[in-house]
Amino acid sequence: MNSDIERYIAVSAKVETKDLDWDEARRVGLTDDEQFVLTYFSDIESQTIRYMRMLLQMKIAFKPAVAAFLTTWSYEEFFHGYELANLLAACGHPLEEDRLERVKKKARLNEWLEEIFGPLLSRIFYHQFPAVYLSFGAIQELTTLKGYEHLRHFTRNPALKVLCERIAKQERRHFAWYFNHARELLSESLCARILARRLLEFNWVPVGAGVKSPDEVKRLFSILFPAELGRRLVREVDEKMGTLPGLEGIKLMTNYFEKAKRQREKTEQTEITEQTEIL
Ligand SMILES: [Fe+2]
Ligand SMILES: [Fe+2]
Repeated sequence: MNSDIERYIAVSAKVETKDLDWDEARRVGLTDDEQFVLTYFSDIESQTIRYMRMLLQMKIAFKPAVAAFLTTWSYEEFFHGYELANLLAACGHPLEEDRLERVKKKARLNEWLEEIFGPLLSRIFYHQFPAVYLSFGAIQELTTLKGYEHLRHFTRNPALKVLCERIAKQERRHFAWYFNHARELLSESLCARILARRLLEFNWVPVGAGVKSPDEVKRLFSILFPAELGRRLVREVDEKMGTLPGLEGIKLMTNYFEKAKRQREKTEQTEITEQTEIL
């Protein structure tokens, strides 16, 4: 096994929480926005097992170094969701027992498309599809990382601050792994580069948008990245993804938020027209 993954395995662990002051966390409590963000994050972290299922259908999953990464990655992600749910419960906002199932039921169109066509495309484009999936993984890990960094910055809850810092450290490693492996595979194949670009542009949505409503996605981003921070996030993420072979100049975040804004304006306009007609 290569030394990169040996190093990764050496530091991989369940996110540490034994030393957190849970009484202090309870005393300080969570704001409504923090409760919303933690529930959102916990929900998407807990969905990792579904993505794992998709990844396991690909031939690269059985390369020893990749198998080692995926095993440690899904283990770490599970505990992100688990410890966020523990913090929510400690602060008086426990999640439902059957939360995982409930969230899965809210899967939206692009999530269904991914579930149906993902395995099919991964068989047809057996050699190229891993590059596609790793590119999707890279952008999701990057936005998740930025989310934890910002939450850590603005929360007043000391336990949440430490937890975000520790989770972000692991997310940084996840991102590095996905990004570096996507770059390697994309640089090897023109077909993979074309496929990755087309599928990202066709079916990519921000992390969580596959199971959350557009309003919930908007609320998450406006809490974590208000005003200029949001514009900077969009720019930074698009620029970083644009450094991957074949993805030069890609505008995934920009296009998603512009489209969402147009749809919101259209809905608002329709509501105003309807109200005017009633009057
Ligand atoms: Fe995570
Ligand atoms: Fe992650």
